[in-house]
Parts: sequence; C-alpha cells; structure tokens
Amino acid sequence: MQKNRISMAVIRRLPKYHRYLKELLEKDVKRISSKELSEIIGFTASQIRQDLNNFGGFGQQGYGYNVEELFYEIGKILGLNRTYNTVIIGAGNLGQALANYVSFEKFGFALKGLFDINPKMIGLKIRDIEIYDMDELEEFIIKNNIEIAYICTNRESAQVTAERMMDCNIKAIWNFAPVDIKVREGVVVENVHLIENLFTLSYFLNNNEE
Ligand code: NAI
Repeated sequence: MQKNRISMAVIRRLPKYHRYLKELLEKDVKRISSKELSEIIGFTASQIRQDLNNFGGFGQQGYGYNVEELFYEIGKILGLNRTYNTVIIGAGNLGQALANYVSFEKFGFALKGLFDINPKMIGLKIRDIEIYDMDELEEFIIKNNIEIAYICTNRESAQVTAERMMDCNIKAIWNFAPVDIKVREGVVVENVHLIENLFTLSYFLNNNEE
C-alpha cells in the first residue's frame, strides 16, 4: 500500500468515510457502490473512487465496495487497528467532559490519567480515572506508555505544557486551548477550536445568499 503523498484533503475526509461506513455496518449493509455512497456522504462518486484509489482502491467493478472490508481498511489507514494510551492535561470543565466521554475509548484511545496543578483536584477521580499532580507527569508518561496528550489547560499554560510533553517523547498532541501549539519535528498536533466553527456559523447566518 502506498503511504506517501496522500493529500491532506484526502486524509481529512477519511474519518467521515469511517463514520458513514460504521453506520452502514450497523444497518447491516453488506456492499455499496460509489454512487450510493456518494448520495449519503455528499462527496461525488468520482471523488470517492479517487480518494480510495490512493490506498489501492478496495472496490470491484460491478460490485462496488464491501462495507465491512472498507470500514476495516479505512480504520487501519487511520491507525484505529490498535490502542493508544492517553492523558488529559488540565482537569477543569473541558478536561472532565472529555474524560467522561467514553466513545474515544471505544475506538481505542484509552485514557490513563488526568493532570492538573490545582491541589484541590489531585486524587479526585473522573469515572475511575485519577487526577494526578503535574509533578508526577514525566514518570507517569513513561510508566504507562502514553502516546497522546490532550491539552485542556488555559491558554497561557498550553505551549509550556506541550513542551513538557515533547520532552517526554510524546509524539501526538490534541490541543483544545485557544492557541495554535508549535511542535517539534516528528510531533503531530491537532488544534481544536470549536469557537471557529461557531464564528463560521454566525457568518453564514448573516450572509445567507438564498
Ligand atoms: P477550566 O479553568 O475549567 O480548566 C482549566 C484547568 O487547567 C484548571 O483545572 C487548571 O487548574 C488547569 N491548569 C492550568 N494550568 C495548568 C498547567 N500548567 N498544568 C496543568 N493544569 C493546568 O477551563 P475549561 O473551561 O476546562 O477550558 C480549558 C481550556 O479549553 C481553556 O483554554 C479554554 O479556553 C479551552 N476551551 C476550548 C474549547 C475548544 O473548542 N477547543 C472549548 C472550550 C474551552
């Protein structure tokens, strides 16, 4: 399978394919043509074929796609065929909300601990997962083989926190603080800023052409 030169746009579409295929599987749909998939997912059939051709195609002329196989293969491309140990830094409102959201675990993102600097929070548990003091961070990360850190601190602490993660050899950061984290070579970051979607929504609300 070709791994290089997959465009960012294609990679960004893969989770959506994965989500729709999961729904089809749950409805016990066994196979689907690119045209049918196009009708439910909203990409053109040629876009779908082009996207999937990046990874070897998967479809068969006259048959379409085997839903289960495609779901599995896209999951594999997305790295969902294994588990990841994760931590949350900043156990406030958002950190706790993420910790309470069990669906990440269903996809293999196992939350091992939360970390905070507020002494009042240390030792508390969200579900069965403990909030630890930041002093214990480095040792915890190594001992628990943590691969992904979710940053839910305030803005001012986010970059410093990320540096600390990278010093611990963390290679993936999911950042929710309202700042675009700068990462070192070999480290990947996804900055999530829900407010940007809200601003886009308000733009369209006020600039509805129809
Ligand atoms: P919060 O104030 O409830 O929680 C922040 C927590 O981070 C606190 O418990 C604080 O003690 C801890 N903290 C601060 N500095 C720290 C450090 N250096 N190390 C470890 N822990 C530290 O705030 P909330 O509402 O949970 O928001 C958290 C962050 O997420 C904020 O930056 C906020 O702007 C952002 N946010 C982002 C959203 C998004 O769409 N990405 C949506 C909502 C909030």
